[in-house]
Amino acid sequence: MPLTKGHVLARKYEIVDFIGKGLIFEVYKARHTRLDRDVALKVLIPEIAADLEFTRFVIKTVQATASLDAHPHISWVHDIDKDGVYIFFVMDYLPVDLNGVMDRIDVDTSVNVVLGVLDALSFAHKHGLVHKDIRPSNVRFSDTGEPLLVDFGMAEIAAKAAVKFKKTAFLPPPTYLAPEQIKSFSLADERSDIYSVGALLYHMLTKKPPFEGDIKQIYYQKLSPTFSPPRPRELNPDIPPKLEEIVLKAMENDPKDRFQTAEEMISALSDVKRKYIARFKNAQYEERRPEGSFVVKYRLRENSPFQITSLEVPSVILVNVPYSITLSLVGDGKGKVRIEVPDFFSLSAPAVQEFEVPCEISWYIITTKFVYGSYDITLELMYEDVSITENPIRVPVLVLPIEGKERKAGKKTIFNLFGLIEPGE
Ligand SMILES: Nc1ncnc2c1ncn2[C@@H]1O[C@H](COP(=O)(O)OP(=O)(O)O)[C@@H](O)[C@H]1O
Ligand SMILES: [Mg+2]
Repeated sequence: MPLTKGHVLARKYEIVDFIGKGLIFEVYKARHTRLDRDVALKVLIPEIAADLEFTRFVIKTVQATASLDAHPHISWVHDIDKDGVYIFFVMDYLPVDLNGVMDRIDVDTSVNVVLGVLDALSFAHKHGLVHKDIRPSNVRFSDTGEPLLVDFGMAEIAAKAAVKFKKTAFLPPPTYLAPEQIKSFSLADERSDIYSVGALLYHMLTKKPPFEGDIKQIYYQKLSPTFSPPRPRELNPDIPPKLEEIVLKAMENDPKDRFQTAEEMISALSDVKRKYIARFKNAQYEERRPEGSFVVKYRLRENSPFQITSLEVPSVILVNVPYSITLSLVGDGKGKVRIEVPDFFSLSAPAVQEFEVPCEISWYIITTKFVYGSYDITLELMYEDVSITENPIRVPVLVLPIEGKERKAGKKTIFNLFGLIEPGE
């Protein structure tokens, strides 16, 4: 029978709310009345709680994982208790999980979350414990945003319950599970956890789980020797190629081809983080000059080997009059810059230029067509073929007629657009 609000278990856990049903638990938010703080109660479903022998196995399995609670990226039980027919585990109340932030998590944060999970796994694996059910709802966040791996031991219990009670519904969903674990639960080892972390990172980076469909379709895809999910960069070209390689290596079908330990994957990811994941923190127009040219100042992330000192772009383009834009870079490193202009502009330098900093790069741009209006010129910077611009730098320009009435109208438009004069002036 579901517990209702106000019900007190073991004389100190007062039910506040039902949170949800998992594979073998009903989870409640409760108030620890003596400590006066919120906790989560994971109450064994009645079907399992009624079986004394199985309950003993559940408690033993959870006890075996208790030592993991000492790790900063693992959150697990504080207490195991029983009240009447209810057998429950007490853990920190952690309302935010990875499902809740999946859509807005960026590349950098995704890598940080995975590094936390891998750190937890490296600790657990050294204690001889394999998680076997790493998926978004089992990666939760502390108040301060630290990732926490939860539910150690639960997959073991759920898999055994599926056999004992003849219910496939108890089995962990297959989306993030390694193919060998799908073949047979007993084949899972540390490298199966590595696979799941790869699948989790795949989802965070591409915003799509690597396998989709109903359970049967996913089983079929995972066991097929020829099926492979789309490469992450096909879904999100902003993923650095080296990071894609890591995801694909972690998700290799044969465990021998994956990272063999959590530490190996940590070291590969740390390397990519240091070298490739650089992006703009701040981009702002520093100055708007009355004559209509911008000096744009951008700051790059600290670990980028170079910085943009200025980007000078005249904001008004007159038909048939060439003008130049100049990008100045300092620092230490080789890179490439790509400029994209609307197709009726012509450039006197190639659209992709290689550079070695410090340097200045210029293009002459001219338009011969009377295509009045405002357009964006976009610039993208690359370091070792990885874009280090989180979004391309967009610089607005206006193409204006030179003569006649139109000019006045046009000028007004541009100045209004760039806020150089007050409306109505
Ligand atoms: N410590 C917790 N704090 C808050 N909510 C939780 C906690 N643990 C689990 N939940 C939520 O309770 C529900 C059931 O959890 P669980 O039994 O772990 O199943 P699953 O991991 O399969 O979703 C889920 O909605 C989950 O997000
Ligand atoms: Mg869970």
